Amino acid sequence: MKDVRKDFPILARHPQLTYLDSACTSLKPLQVIEAESSYYYELGACAGRSSHMLGREASNAAEGAREKVADFVGAKAEETVWTRNATEALNIVAYGLDYSKRKKVVTSALEHHAVLLPWMNLRDRGMITLEIVGCDERGHVSEEAWANAIDRNTALVVTNNGNNTSGVSQCTKNLAKIAHDSGALICIDGAQGVPHRHVDFRKENFDYLCFSAHKMLGPTGIGALVMKREQMAKLQPLVRGGGTVKTVNLDRVEPVSDYTRFEAGVQHYSGMIGFAAACGYLKSYGMENVEAHEKALASAMLGELEKAGVAVHGPKDLPRSALYSFNIRGAKAHDVALMLDKEGIAVRSGFFCAQPAMEAMGAKDGAVRASCYIYNSPDDVRKLGEALKKIAALY
Ligand code: ALA
Repeated sequence: MKDVRKDFPILARHPQLTYLDSACTSLKPLQVIEAESSYYYELGACAGRSSHMLGREASNAAEGAREKVADFVGAKAEETVWTRNATEALNIVAYGLDYSKRKKVVTSALEHHAVLLPWMNLRDRGMITLEIVGCDERGHVSEEAWANAIDRNTALVVTNNGNNTSGVSQCTKNLAKIAHDSGALICIDGAQGVPHRHVDFRKENFDYLCFSAHKMLGPTGIGALVMKREQMAKLQPLVRGGGTVKTVNLDRVEPVSDYTRFEAGVQHYSGMIGFAAACGYLKSYGMENVEAHEKALASAMLGELEKAGVAVHGPKDLPRSALYSFNIRGAKAHDVALMLDKEGIAVRSGFFCAQPAMEAMGAKDGAVRASCYIYNSPDDVRKLGEALKKIAALY
């Protein structure tokens, strides 16, 4: 596999660092950092507004970036709206959908808070009914459980295509079919799916796909919501303001009809350009290579975790990215994370913004999570295993 470590300035600054916290946020290659800063060096102006030379160049750069990011997930620019992150994209869908004909939303206990909180809020305000499908004792929601919950009253199914607590990649193509067979829409939280395998919005037949740049080598503060055109036309925007209207009189507003309806105010142009560069970087690495690299790392990591005798949470036998949550029996997760930090290994501990998921998998007090990306090597995973053996011996 191509060694990309030289592209990542943080790894050059900390040659001894083993960064295993990419599920929280990935490191950024120089190509992305330079692309993002090129906006400030070369453009600097507002896109979609001012007709002067820099304004036109900024508009071209922003729209070019939209095409690249859309293309990365098999979608078109006109189906793609910029957001701050996947969380904001999910909130736009939650609060913008019309639930007057069908009131029910189906999700699972294994979702990130970014999925659970907006729809739980709508439930608590009496706007929807929410069915939260439980998981089996392994921490898995079967297709049968989804099919039993989705019915003719279901407006929307919302779930992830990559789980941030267990690493499992759910087969969302089948789920889209189950949803559509009942006349429901499907919204995918792609924050942990899109960075780790090739995702095709059209082929997988999603209605909405939400993802964040920063988990896939791109900048923080920028994400995307991809929507089928007919769904975009029906969705109400979450934020209103400049850049979203054709005309405004004090008694009447005529909104624009395209994606800019969702992009009120001056936007994160440098982020868009950096996001497109991240997509370009991953495309030239090859998403099939990302997947193969992580498959090998995942199996090596599981071997190391088992040798170290830690308790691994969630299913071990399903398609996944190189991510595991685990506990050392008798040790607090935060203490383990701090001890790993002393060994030069960066991991995350706690509930990972998915407390119900962790509790459902038996980690009532949270866990430690190690998550890899393309810059990790089998050596990183071995180093984790050695350090865990040492720490486990203390308990
Ligand atoms: N959602 C991110 C994580 O899983 C922040 O760590």
